[in-house]
Amino acid sequence: MNESRLVDREAPIGIFDSGVGGLTVLKEIFKILPFENGVYFGDVGRTPYGGRSKDIITEFTRQDIAFLIEQKVKFIVCACNTASSVALEDIKKDYDIDMIGVIEPGARAAAERTKSGKIGIIGTHATINSNAYAKYIHEIDPDLKVFSLACPLFVPLAEEGYIDKEATYYIAVDYLQTMKDVEVDTLVLGCTHYPLLKHVIGDVMGDDVLLIDSGEETARAARDILSESNLMNPSASQTPCPEGEQKYFVSDVPERFSGVASRFLGREVSRITRVDISRY
Ligand code: DGL
Repeated sequence: MNESRLVDREAPIGIFDSGVGGLTVLKEIFKILPFENGVYFGDVGRTPYGGRSKDIITEFTRQDIAFLIEQKVKFIVCACNTASSVALEDIKKDYDIDMIGVIEPGARAAAERTKSGKIGIIGTHATINSNAYAKYIHEIDPDLKVFSLACPLFVPLAEEGYIDKEATYYIAVDYLQTMKDVEVDTLVLGCTHYPLLKHVIGDVMGDDVLLIDSGEETARAARDILSESNLMNPSASQTPCPEGEQKYFVSDVPERFSGVASRFLGREVSRITRVDISRY
């Protein structure tokens, strides 16, 4: 980060995603940084990003970030695996604000925890085609073997609440057989929606396979960055520690967002505002 930038430590953390999925990351942030204020932007009007080209994903990601910067956030979390893997690295260089994506923390956790050296990555088409997870894992240890697989149907299944349905189980069996065949011992859930299907994915892969939730790892990495950069909200040291204020913004009608959002976040979502993201 640029040392000359004066940062208001009470300013919110900005979190964005292609839609509702990033709320699984926000849920993890709430667990370990409950005192932080937050601004969440979900690009529900243009979701999903996962089947789009690099150019379009980069353009959308730039706009999402520009919106959060206008909200005067102190730090940005790109909760979307697709945007993190395809666009974030290029865009980050243009801004004087700390930003973190979900790929590096997830990749690091997988590289550190695998025992057999065989890691599976599942995500959207764009995330898998970018090879971003494999790139980070190989920077840590070039000898690790990485097997990547797009599982696009998991996104609508999670959004529609198909969490415990037999249909979801059969789709998971079909998708994940190749991961079982190559005997990965660690599987990265490289998409915001997949933690909702953790039980199904875990049942299919079996008890011996460790599932890595990139959102969980990212929340921990965000806490470390805030602490190292002296950006943590000072209210963290109060007892009892007050809960931060959270605002939600979306790029299309908020009604559908609020229904799905409470399921993803595990709590009611209020204060949702629609923004015209094409302005940014
Ligand atoms: N948020 C996206 C991700 O984590 C999944 C949904 C989409 O394709 O936009 O990759």
